[in-house]
Amino acid sequence: MGIFESTEAWLNERVPLQSWKDFFKKKGVPLHKHSVWYVFGGAALFLFAIQVVTGILLLLYYRPSSDAAFESVKFIMTQVKFGWLIRSIHSWSANLFILVLFIHMFSVYFLKGYRKPRELTWVTGLLMFFIALGFGFTGYLLPWNTLAYFATKVGTEITAVVPFVGDFLLKFLRGGEDVTGATLTRLFGFHVAVLPALSTLILGIHLALIQIQGMSKPIGVKSDKEMPFFPNFLYRDMIGWLAMLGLLAVLAAFFPWELGTKADPFAPAPAGIKPEWYFLFMFETLKLFPSKVLIFDGESLAVMLFGVVGVFWLLVPFLDKKANREEKSPVFTLIGVAGIIAIVILTIIGYVS
Ligand code: HEM
Repeated sequence: MGIFESTEAWLNERVPLQSWKDFFKKKGVPLHKHSVWYVFGGAALFLFAIQVVTGILLLLYYRPSSDAAFESVKFIMTQVKFGWLIRSIHSWSANLFILVLFIHMFSVYFLKGYRKPRELTWVTGLLMFFIALGFGFTGYLLPWNTLAYFATKVGTEITAVVPFVGDFLLKFLRGGEDVTGATLTRLFGFHVAVLPALSTLILGIHLALIQIQGMSKPIGVKSDKEMPFFPNFLYRDMIGWLAMLGLLAVLAAFFPWELGTKADPFAPAPAGIKPEWYFLFMFETLKLFPSKVLIFDGESLAVMLFGVVGVFWLLVPFLDKKANREEKSPVFTLIGVAGIIAIVILTIIGYVS
């Protein structure tokens, strides 16, 4: 018996290895004209893995204090071999990750992949989306450069208008009244410990549910045609991974992620501070609200609106009353289309304004 066979036999006596092997051998992916959308969950997983690996490499040299953070990132970019490449890939891949999550989330939504029995797959997926936004927000400040400093100041200021708990939230995020070194260490803790721990748990549940339930078939697909996951569909997934890796290499090589100048808390804020593109639609919505609506504060109302929309989006599988049946739900499709149009238009306005 070779080393692999004997290891397998040894493991088989202790864990149900053979039944797992049989399970994965049988795993199939439904084949129909919408099958291409199944690639985006795997794409998100691939980008998440890139974030973990490049993030750990950055951690080897990064120092989370207001005195040393900027210099340590500069050191990574100029002195550490391939440090610039790792940092650029981490930053570009973070953006691509969120873009892919938008696509995955909306494609699952329109194909009604959230319907029974996949309600919890949707809920855990959406929690991962919020966590991804959290990663983006907390990572942004870490280089301690001017743009990040003032964008974080504006971003955390918004939490202050949340009714009742706004003041607490602001201090909780900033570690005090203002954005200081305490904010940096705090956001660093979220970025490298709290959010990774939460993602491991929630993503683990998301992926386990998908294995247990298999992929859903969109309404109207009657055929039972399937493609084996191993190796056929995995090869399809890998084409997507390769394309993204190519894109990341091109972006990192031709548009290395900039560092800018070190943050100076006493300097005036530069004009036109904007958040990252994935927060722009919320930023623009805030600006659309007048400062007062009747007796209410406009910004507080806008933040409450985000809360309501977020809860609605989380509860979609329970609100779509057709969820048990093979029936279309045009109202939900329309809400999704309206949501995408609003996000795209507000993001474009945010860019050009
Ligand atoms: C780190 C983030 C995420 C990862 C790594 C991930 C991964 C995956 C994978 C590998 C699949 C199976 C293939 C596919 O359908 O694409 C899947 C399915 C699914 N995901 Fe995600 N996902 C993430 C975030 C999300 C988000 C943000 C949502 C929605 C709010 C979501 C909802 C779902 C649902 C409902 C399914 C089942 C689809 C079906 O059976 O047709 N996921 N996910």
